[in-house]
Amino acid sequence: MVMKTVITYGTFDMFHVGHLNLLRRLSEMGDRLIVAVSTDEFNKGKGKKTLIPYDQRSQIVESIKYVDMVVPEESWEQKLTDVKKYNVDVFAIGEDWKGKFDFLEDLCEVVYLPRTKNISTTDLKKSLKRFLSIPHEDLIQAFEVLELLRRDLE
Ligand code: CTP
Repeated sequence: MVMKTVITYGTFDMFHVGHLNLLRRLSEMGDRLIVAVSTDEFNKGKGKKTLIPYDQRSQIVESIKYVDMVVPEESWEQKLTDVKKYNVDVFAIGEDWKGKFDFLEDLCEVVYLPRTKNISTTDLKKSLKRFLSIPHEDLIQAFEVLELLRRDLE
């Protein structure tokens, strides 16, 4: 049997269910899934700052049962060499990148998958920022109310 290899690229910061759904669908497309996780330096070059450092993001992605191998994504150009180096059959990524990697079509199949709705790292970061901007006194008061409610339920 010939093994079918799928590859994808991404930051996977604050790992969420949209990432999980994507990795599951990618694993169903072949026999081996390689994930290239963007390094902090590569993200910096794109003006993107992650909350979780590369070492932790790559460990999390590596531990997902759908993933067979994690490699660092360090440049835009490496896709061309990776596809050849790992004998990739399918390059797949979320549809937010639609059309951007069609140049790989000479080397492998290129697929853009629909994103999971209503979740993204950007949204999670916004929620965290909103939460952190709540004055401390208001938070303490809210926790006190929650504690009273919890006691009521006991
Ligand atoms: N992805 C997805 N569904 C989501 C969020 C992400 O399918 N709701 C996919 C992206 O299309 C990409 C991969 O997950 O192929 C990694 O995306 P990444 O940019 O790391 O995650 P986002 O949540 O989109 O992060 P950001 O908001 O910073 O762009």
